[in-house]
Amino acid sequence: MATRYTIAITGKGGTGKTTIAAAVVTCLIDRGCTPVLAVDADPNSCLDGVLGVKALKTVGQIREESRDAGAGQPGGVSKRELIELRIAESLVEAEDFDLIAMGRPEGPGCYCYANNLFGDCIGELSKSYPCIVIDNEAGLENLSRRLYRQVDLLLIAGDPSKRGIETIRRLHGLAEEMGVEYARLALVVNLVRDGSNTRDLSALGQELGADSVLILPFDPEIARAGEEGLRMQDVPRTNPVLAGIDGLISGLDPAGDTRD
Ligand SMILES: Nc1ncnc2c1ncn2[C@@H]1O[C@H](COP(=O)(O)OP(=O)(O)OP(=O)(O)O)[C@@H](O)[C@H]1O
Ligand SMILES: [Mg+2]
Repeated sequence: MATRYTIAITGKGGTGKTTIAAAVVTCLIDRGCTPVLAVDADPNSCLDGVLGVKALKTVGQIREESRDAGAGQPGGVSKRELIELRIAESLVEAEDFDLIAMGRPEGPGCYCYANNLFGDCIGELSKSYPCIVIDNEAGLENLSRRLYRQVDLLLIAGDPSKRGIETIRRLHGLAEEMGVEYARLALVVNLVRDGSNTRDLSALGQELGADSVLILPFDPEIARAGEEGLRMQDVPRTNPVLAGIDGLISGLDPAGDTRD
């Protein structure tokens, strides 16, 4: 069975989660860990745009539609088969990766049957990819509901401001509280400028039991790509943000490991 890695990104709003997720996807593709499944699990996110594709339908929309579809369909198609089919149809297929957008999480009402069915279908879908990258909202909703198998690498992103660091600490606490299971933890302190205070970051990493602390600079090329809506895959690999993320990924050896 092929190697499988699940890499999940969470962090403070606006600190580069989507940029980092797109960089992880790009580096995994470069390393031959294809096809990558990119999961846009932040309802307000635009991972599709940063990877140069367009998601037309979210899993949340399919869930709403399926709710009205009743328990079964004429012709012997079960509700599960119908949902599997619709999820497969919503998948955006690009050359080296596929993308699925989760959309809004379900509301507080009890739709346990539908939720479990969706959990099963997403779990089933993700089995056919060697690498999965999940761009999460800060709330960790999708991870805590165990929509994915265990996370191999959890990235918590923040900026170097006092508040950014506090948010990293808080999100780490939240992940612990919610019982998110991960094998490795990396803190990614992004948007670091000359004069930013990075002195205490390795102590923070130790405090939170992180395996690594990655410091990424504010980079004009990434800023321009964001402003102009360019694809991450078109950013030169010498770019310090891409190079930093590649260093992090290389520690995982996603293409060389023979683990299931
Ligand atoms: N290292 C960097 N250097 C320069 N600009 C960056 C860097 N990282 C991210 N950006 C820019 O900052 C903006 C916010 O980044 P991004 O959308 O990735 O953050 P986010 O955490 O996903 O935001 P949201 O919480 O809205 O989902 C984007 O315009 C992006 O291009
Ligand atoms: Mg985002």
